[in-house]
Amino acid sequence: MAANGVIFRIRRGGGADDPGERFQAYAITPRPRMTVLDALTAIQNGQDATLGFRYSCRVGMCGTCALQVNGRPRWACRTRLDGLGENVTLEPLANFPVLRDLAVDMDPFFNKMNRARGWAEPSGEAAQAPARISPLGRERGRIDPHIECITCGICYSACTMVGHDPAFLGPAALNRAYTLVCDSREAGGAERLAEVAGEHGVWRCHSQFNCTEACPKGISPATAIQALKRRAAAGGAREFVSALLGGRAPGGERASGGKSAGDS
Ligand code: SF4
Ligand code: FES
Repeated sequence: MAANGVIFRIRRGGGADDPGERFQAYAITPRPRMTVLDALTAIQNGQDATLGFRYSCRVGMCGTCALQVNGRPRWACRTRLDGLGENVTLEPLANFPVLRDLAVDMDPFFNKMNRARGWAEPSGEAAQAPARISPLGRERGRIDPHIECITCGICYSACTMVGHDPAFLGPAALNRAYTLVCDSREAGGAERLAEVAGEHGVWRCHSQFNCTEACPKGISPATAIQALKRRAAAGGAREFVSALLGGRAPGGERASGGKSAGDS
């Protein structure tokens, strides 16, 4: 860490009330173990009360402090100044609309969680009472590595495909969908799989693993997306065979005189 001082170049503006985007420089004298979030609060308290950024827990629990540090999406509260050098550039997360300075609008991100049906829809007995899932079962083993997401948006910011296709569901929503598609208590599996296999779903992912590399929780959304692709492909193959056996063109109307799988 630079003992004498660190220069922060911070992206300012970008919101409706201050559309002119620009960089503004601030110098601070770092303290031992100081984090980027500590530096931001020091600048806001001591130099510029108008600086806009967001945080809540300060301990890596809520994900609200996510921003770009020297071009990489990271949590401000868990990023120490040690090793960042004497010049640090802070920008808002990529792929999000900017509200003000370093604070972004999370609505598009959470709207995609909704599109991927990222909520539990229990069926059968699970809807009546808590269902028991063996901690050692294969189902639990598939879901566990993907369940600790705190919806910080870092993987979404790191994803180049979100930049190419703003309607792409993105790594976090697809990771969440995977945990639910794998869950035997779920009632919404077919609809969820249809959504994630749609035009702006899993097939948009080019498996670059930027999301996996960036996730501070050690989750691999890219692995979840690959597993969803396999499930979607298997579902498509089943539909294809069933359509052939039923005398229908796959995905189309039944040919005249043919029988569908459900016909008696
Ligand atoms: S998968 Fe990781 S990086 Fe992505 S939103 Fe969840 S916790 Fe954040
Ligand atoms: S402030 Fe909660 S994760 Fe950083």
